[in-house]
Amino acid sequence: MIKRFRSMAAALSAAVVATCLCVTVAASSSGSGRSSAPPVSSAGELRIANVLAGMTLREKVAQMTQADIRYVSPADMAQYPLGSILNGGGAWPGGERASTQADWMALAKAFQSASEQRVGSRVPIVWGTDAVHGHNNVRGAVIFPHNIGLGAARDPVLVRDIGRSVARSVRSTGIRWVFAPTLAVVQNPRWGRTYESFSSNPALVADYARAYVEGLQGELRGPGDVIATAKHFIGDGGTSGGIDQGVTEADEHTLLTVHGAGYRAALAAGAQTVMASYSSWSDPASGDDHGKMHGNRDLLTTVLKERWAFDGFVVSDWNAIGQVPGCTNAACSAAINAGIDMVMVPEEWRAFIENTVSQVERGEISRKRIDEAVTRILRVKWRMGLLEGVSARPVSGDAGLQLTTGQDRDLARRAVRESVVLLKNLNGAVPFSRNARVLLVGEGADSIPLQSGGWSVTWQGTETSNTDFPGATTLLAALRKELGEANVDFLAAVAKGQAVEQYNRIIVVAAESPYAETAGDVRFPAPLSHESRYPRDRENFDAVSGRGVPVIVVAYTGRPQEMNHFLVQADAFLVGWLPGTEGEGIADLLLRDRNGNAVHDFRGRLPFPWPLDACKPASGGNAIPVGYGLGISGRRTRYFPLRQSSSVTGECPVESPGVAERR
Ligand code: BGC
Ligand code: BGC
Repeated sequence: MIKRFRSMAAALSAAVVATCLCVTVAASSSGSGRSSAPPVSSAGELRIANVLAGMTLREKVAQMTQADIRYVSPADMAQYPLGSILNGGGAWPGGERASTQADWMALAKAFQSASEQRVGSRVPIVWGTDAVHGHNNVRGAVIFPHNIGLGAARDPVLVRDIGRSVARSVRSTGIRWVFAPTLAVVQNPRWGRTYESFSSNPALVADYARAYVEGLQGELRGPGDVIATAKHFIGDGGTSGGIDQGVTEADEHTLLTVHGAGYRAALAAGAQTVMASYSSWSDPASGDDHGKMHGNRDLLTTVLKERWAFDGFVVSDWNAIGQVPGCTNAACSAAINAGIDMVMVPEEWRAFIENTVSQVERGEISRKRIDEAVTRILRVKWRMGLLEGVSARPVSGDAGLQLTTGQDRDLARRAVRESVVLLKNLNGAVPFSRNARVLLVGEGADSIPLQSGGWSVTWQGTETSNTDFPGATTLLAALRKELGEANVDFLAAVAKGQAVEQYNRIIVVAAESPYAETAGDVRFPAPLSHESRYPRDRENFDAVSGRGVPVIVVAYTGRPQEMNHFLVQADAFLVGWLPGTEGEGIADLLLRDRNGNAVHDFRGRLPFPWPLDACKPASGGNAIPVGYGLGISGRRTRYFPLRQSSSVTGECPVESPGVAERR
């Protein structure tokens, strides 16, 4: 076994040398690519060196190890001086989803004080969490629109404010590290993580990367600051066919400039950590298969750390080291040698520590490499104020921060308002009068889980109900509040023959079911068509449309996808994306004020092309272009190329998916 590891490692490093890419995009091509994290003073570097010098090899390896709270307890800290913990999606204190802010804080304090009292290395632990649209694992936190909606808003100041709000919310639970923002530049909306991406436009991703990191990190050590993670490095949004954790086929220039755009900006804003991508990279131009990103020294070390001067640390993704050839979830010298500094080994962290210590003792990983990784982790902790006296760092310094304030809700409501994209509006269907009687149709009209999507209380965003989101407002609740209970009726499902004559407007909510990561992939040859994936929504729509009452469709979707039937037949069509807990933001756009005036115009613009062909959603040809979106006073009222959809039934023809579809 040991022998196999050694020869694998040797073979791997030989392979790296043989296929060594010659990185041609130099940092000098854009001054903004260099990291602008605050310099560490010489006293700081001395302190870091002293702390490192006082650590045993085992303590150093433990410092590089991150375990999930489902598999580690504060008591373990005495024996294993871990550097970090995380709560993966749907991990809550004591496994209790109703945990309060105080429960989260109590667990954070328990881990922190255990890490400070242990024998040997007392470097405080840092806890990371996926606060990707608000502090979304915590019940009662405000949930912001997923990134795709923020991309539609085109408002970096809004994004910075959201970063500040999320950071305060996270700190209110004693947590100081956020695995966001995702900087994927998604090319194919079949990918289940499309909603985590701001846009297919690298320039927009770069602007937002900067703003988001600034918002989250603030000054790094203030009471409302957290450290950010630029993820997933690099090319996660470019995989062929939009397959999660798949292969990004791109030449080096495209990889670094398109998929790398957000990283250059995030580093310029001082992002302290970068998460490696599960995906692989292959270059069709040169024919080189560079393999899994977690084993790619050229990109993780030569490009990111050396050329782009990133001096924080690189964290691996959940059990991702196990996907590198020759590795397991609990042992991977190739990843560490490639440049992974902190290893997310949620479950098998004990075995990982022992295995890694042995690998160092056997010479598979150099002591120098370990020291370099630990120095990077300590540098970030120093910047956070964690290596100074105890008084500078207690989690109790976060006391007084609230999980959610009224201001956070107002900010999220504004974000919703800014993110909605109006694709069609005939005869002033929206906004409408406050005297209207309204029928709301579709389960999504009264469901915070459907408004929020994946990464909401649970990892997948499933197995939850409205009670998991105290303080949230559905679209139904928002309209009832504004128009009066008696004027808004709701039916989760309707059948032909439904009486509609008494209404002035009918709103049909069409909603994707929540998903996260691989579970959200819609792989070729399945058509990327909402109406074929969710026939119930089409039935609802058909039951009420064409009956003389204007029908407005509101789509809750984590991706642009073919919805031609609705677009052709509806009077108005609003893309709501995944707006989160503040449904009032949508009501704000739908309603006129008491004097009959429109209050808020629609300012959302498509952040991705909107496909009109369910079998070619990635080719961009037959699509409503990026940047499209109507205002209520705009001249364009209808997008011209729309014809009656020939809705795909069954699978897409396999013969000619087209290059873009496969990529
Ligand atoms: C995801 C990451 C996430 C991590 C921790 C992984 O599966 O790819 O984005 O930060 O889990 O939950
Ligand atoms: C965790 C997620 C993680 C996923 C990866 C889940 O159990 O809760 O955070 O991303 O596993 O497979």
